[in-house]
Amino acid sequence: MAGLLELIAEAERQLTICNACRYCEGYCAVFPAAERRSAFALGDVVQLANLCHDCRACHQACMFAPPHEFGVDIPGLMRQVRLAGYRRYAWPGALAALFGRPRLTAALVGLAGMLLALLAVVWSHGPGALARSHTGPGAFYQLIGYELLLAGFLALTALVVLVLGVGGRRLWRDVGGDRASLDPGAWAATLADVLLLRYLGGGGGGCYHPDPLHPSRARRVLHQLLFGGFALAFAATLAAAVEQDLLGWLPPYPLLSVPVLLGTAGGAAMVIGAGGLLWLGRRASTTDAPRSRTLDGAFLWLSEAVGVSGLALLALRTTPLIGPLLILHLGTVVGVFVTAPYGKLVHGLHRTLALLQDRAEARREP
Ligand code: HEM
Ligand code: SF4
Ligand code: SF4
Repeated sequence: MAGLLELIAEAERQLTICNACRYCEGYCAVFPAAERRSAFALGDVVQLANLCHDCRACHQACMFAPPHEFGVDIPGLMRQVRLAGYRRYAWPGALAALFGRPRLTAALVGLAGMLLALLAVVWSHGPGALARSHTGPGAFYQLIGYELLLAGFLALTALVVLVLGVGGRRLWRDVGGDRASLDPGAWAATLADVLLLRYLGGGGGGCYHPDPLHPSRARRVLHQLLFGGFALAFAATLAAAVEQDLLGWLPPYPLLSVPVLLGTAGGAAMVIGAGGLLWLGRRASTTDAPRSRTLDGAFLWLSEAVGVSGLALLALRTTPLIGPLLILHLGTVVGVFVTAPYGKLVHGLHRTLALLQDRAEARREP
């Protein structure tokens, strides 16, 4: 893959052609943002790359796409810039190498998470706890002590927030973000862009991945199922914390309780969303962006494992499988947390910041 500086030079060349052509300005935020600029420095190109949602509508329409001698391919180029950006903004820098081996990283971190969960069970209640079934209030804590579980996840969350925060701050500075960009109107518009995944809509005609001949809404819908699945699972955890710590009701909760209903909906959305995106990926041409597909695939398999293990834990929680399934589930959740700054999930932060800066720029226009 070309280095970031070569990509910037190539982006300057292609975007200058686009600024003269302007055919695609209604498709997404990239072209209007390019038109606001007469030169393309590193921060400008990173900003445009994170605005590009890879719907490929412009590429389908482009009369200057290969084999034309101008060789314009905005989505392909923007994809490469995003990948280079994930490495550039990763902190600590040495860990950026993990982006080169996403499947191995996801597998090893998931296994390390399971090993930690296993050690926590053995330390809390001895290895015998794994072979027994546990029922009644506090059943999960007969496997892992509550304080240990809470301390482990709070420490992990603090670490991930710190690491993502440092990287996000660097990107924010590069794309020209400042205090004035954080105005409430820009936030509200950005929230709508994220929730609707507006620019994956191909300007209304649909996304051309995986089928360049038949645009569809499938990728957008499946993405939002996966995104919503994670959000619901997070809401389920918060609801469980309220029931336990404020109301004094210990888990496992009944099937018709708020945490279980939210968790079940979240797990199902995650399984369908991640499974559907994996299926779309298999239908794409094998020469289609292999590096970003490997990064996507590693995260999608991890998400699938979180969803399936969570649903299995719910279905089999009264059987002796509760111990092994809890270890499997906690291990995969740790995998998602730890790989968040060094895997696909980091795009959510980069894209949100770019969308926010774009809305702020557009609001400042005379
Ligand atoms: C927070 C704002 C987010 C935005 C604006 C966003 C936007 C996008 C866009 C435009 C793509 C297609 C281009 C690309 O691969 O980068 C994408 C892909 C992807 N996103 Fe997000 N995303 C966000 C958050 C998330 C979250 C929270 C998750 C998971 C829980 C997620 C999971 C994925 C996955 C797995 C892919 C690859 C899908 C594929 O196979 O095409 N995203 N995202
Ligand atoms: S992608 Fe092609 S058609 Fe679209 S604005 Fe650029 S040069 Fe014009
Ligand atoms: S979002 Fe779609 S139309 Fe806009 S630059 Fe990216 S691929 Fe082209």
